[in-house]
Amino acid sequence: MSILYYSSSDQGGTSNDRILSGLREKLPHKTISVWPDCPDKTSITTAIVWQPPIDFFDGLSNLKHVLSIAAGVDHLLGHPALPKNVSVTRLTDAGMAEPMAQYVLYGVLHAQRQMTALANAQRNQLWRHDISTVPTQRFHVGILGAGVLSLVTAKRLVDNGYKVSCWSRTPKQLQGIAHFDGADGLEELLPQVNALVCLLPLTPQTTGILNASLFAKLPVGAYLINPGRGGHADETALLDALNSDHLSGALLDVFNEEPLPPSSPIWSHPNIVVTPHVAAPTHEDGAVEQIAQSIDQLERDEIPHGMVNRDAGY
Ligand code: NAP
Ligand code: GLV
Repeated sequence: MSILYYSSSDQGGTSNDRILSGLREKLPHKTISVWPDCPDKTSITTAIVWQPPIDFFDGLSNLKHVLSIAAGVDHLLGHPALPKNVSVTRLTDAGMAEPMAQYVLYGVLHAQRQMTALANAQRNQLWRHDISTVPTQRFHVGILGAGVLSLVTAKRLVDNGYKVSCWSRTPKQLQGIAHFDGADGLEELLPQVNALVCLLPLTPQTTGILNASLFAKLPVGAYLINPGRGGHADETALLDALNSDHLSGALLDVFNEEPLPPSSPIWSHPNIVVTPHVAAPTHEDGAVEQIAQSIDQLERDEIPHGMVNRDAGY
């Protein structure tokens, strides 16, 4: 197996040099070239990538496997030159679930304790005793997604006393967490939640799911937490829902365009907290461990843990 590595840049505190050197240490008998420095492209069978450039796949005529250095594979499946016959593997948790659960817990506490209204009161030197808090056991968090990151996040919230429901494409039985599925399940869940968290993958089915129609189904005062993907949200509809006070606030980690452009009204909106796609950065050691394990499984003709269903898009 000859491997080609490409990572666009360090992101969210993750060092790509450390991932590359970790992989070389973990796989001492493998040749790992770093794109574009690859003398024989036809020898490459496996690619390890984050946001490969448009010409990355050119000449890789014997490529069989692509391993993503991320949980989400929307960037990869959307690559116009990704060969149709290659398998795609992604990171599953690999150290990301803990920071994601922490990020969402922070957002839920922010929403429950009405920190948006209190911060605005501070700016106006207002001593507001009228801002009340919904008790924890009644504060209902709806999570869109019931996958790897959602379930660890849901458990963290349950452990902190919150009422939690997850929503996914397929039916499931979850311990201590209510579950909804499909379009009817979403209709039933939305009017019940105090905070809505989006932890879906970005697929054609989930693109723009956080839109005016969905916001209208949330109760007045609901709070949005989006660490999923920017493409999940119609940002104009979100701003409308916030400006009309239908939504009380939003914690956003991902945006239609990243970095968020200086001209975006999201930057200065008093009811939005912006974080720069850092909810759960790739964990270097976790990524190295899991990618090495996936390579081992692929070599033994086993299906690696994070094998992506290319038809489903995640
Ligand atoms: P995952 O394990 O694949 O879980 C995805 C969940 O979404 C599954 O429960 C799946 O349903 C559900 N789903 C997919 N399509 C759906 C649809 N059309 N309708 C309803 N439910 C649908 O993914 P994960 O590892 O938890 O990661 C989730 C996403 O988090 C990633 O794709 C990425 O975009 C984002 N992420 C962000 C950061 C960050 O730092 N901001 C870091 C890591 C990941 P089923 O269970 O029925 O299949
Ligand atoms: C980060 O956003 C990831 O998908 O891992």
